[in-house]
Amino acid sequence: MKIKNIATFTLAFGVALSALQFSAPAQADPFTNAEDAVKYRQSALSLVRANFAHMSGMVRGEIEYDAEAFQERANALKHLSHIPFDAFSGAGYNVTENSDALPAIWENWDDFSEKAEAFKSAAYELATAAESENMRTIRPRFMATARTCQQCHEGYRAD
Ligand code: HEC
Repeated sequence: MKIKNIATFTLAFGVALSALQFSAPAQADPFTNAEDAVKYRQSALSLVRANFAHMSGMVRGEIEYDAEAFQERANALKHLSHIPFDAFSGAGYNVTENSDALPAIWENWDDFSEKAEAFKSAAYELATAAESENMRTIRPRFMATARTCQQCHEGYRAD
């Protein structure tokens, strides 16, 4: 590398670094405060609902079954199933006024985590079942996933 190139590289790298420094303070917990964590998990869960509701319409026959669209929603749910639960630890530990999370979550953390895992597994199985393009295979996996939402909300979400 010529001297000139090193200088250009150093300059570019320096600019990139300072951009990073301005975007957020570096820290182990990605959430700077409880409000951020609550917003993060609620946003993720509303994406979960949007994808789930579209599939639900097809499973119930209210919307015509479209194999490609169903697979897309099922794949999205599978990926989304990982997203909300990180934001219940760290800064997310603090319950805020805007949150419907019940304190029981942190009193029964292992059980809550197991319920999150059950949801992830169900979402994976649903995405696999969707590949069959057969509603008889898909429906039971969809219902099993719906139960995992319900089983967690029962004890851990207000309302
Ligand atoms: C392991 C527990 C758990 C599972 C599994 C779970 N949820 Fe939730 N969900 C929660 C909790 C806790 C809240 C409240 C979060 C808050 O307000 O801080 C919530 C909130 C929500 C919300 C409201 C988001 C908002 O905008 O405030 C929706 C919608 C939702 N869940 C849908 C679902 C659906 C659909 C499923 C299944 C496909 C599901 N959840 C699975 C625990 C769970």
